Amino acid sequence: MNERYREMAGRLIVALDYPDADQAAALLRELEGIPCYMKVGMQLYYAAGPDFVRDLKTRGYKVFLDLKMHDIPNTVKGGAESITRLGVDMFNVHAAGGTDMMKAALEGADKALASDGSLKKPLVIAVTQLTSTGQDMLNDEIGIPGTVRDAVIRYAELTQAAGLDGVVASAQEAGDIARACGAGFITVTPGIRPAGSDQGDQKRVLTPGEAIRGGSSYIVVGRPITAAEKPRTAAEQIIKEMLEA
Ligand code: C5P
Repeated sequence: MNERYREMAGRLIVALDYPDADQAAALLRELEGIPCYMKVGMQLYYAAGPDFVRDLKTRGYKVFLDLKMHDIPNTVKGGAESITRLGVDMFNVHAAGGTDMMKAALEGADKALASDGSLKKPLVIAVTQLTSTGQDMLNDEIGIPGTVRDAVIRYAELTQAAGLDGVVASAQEAGDIARACGAGFITVTPGIRPAGSDQGDQKRVLTPGEAIRGGSSYIVVGRPITAAEKPRTAAEQIIKEMLEA
């Protein structure tokens, strides 16, 4: 395995969206040896809990804990402290929670780090607009005027000003975010669909190659791998496409 492959595979975040640890473990066996990031979201975390996350870390995986915290600052601070103690590499909050809430997440992480020198500082990122949100939904349902792009850039700038490491957004917005916030600001982009795969509930989708060319730091892929007949082949194909981009 060469360095470029390792580096690119490390930018693929596989969403372990499963109802229990056994099913997630089956995918891990399937993908064994591919040095990708693993994402634990609400479905798996609420079923398998912190033990599953610790187990992933013991096995050497990079872990993104995707719990999208959105609560009053004090509660998010406590949540971030507990999450950081799990030793995860990345976690997130909703930018819509505002500046004080985002800063509280950083304070919670710092508190955990100060109490345990063996912990590594996690990347703390914020969700801008969910990739399932389309223009009509943003304007008519949620009541935010303007384009999805405007809302995303506004959230990205707010996130950066609060001192976080980056944002979750659609890959379609990654280039604009980099222009607004600079290249050092991380963009994690779900809503990735290799050509010919089912779009599902995602609205703002791009292929893996388009996402990398567009400036995504990391791409998040769930169903195109987890629901594939051959998940390992699907993951290898995605990494190949990322490398070619
Ligand atoms: O199956 P699919 O590839 O659509 O999975 C995308 C993953 O990324 C899911 O785990 C979803 O929760 C997550 N996600 C998202 N949009 C965001 C943030 C996270 O789709 N804005």
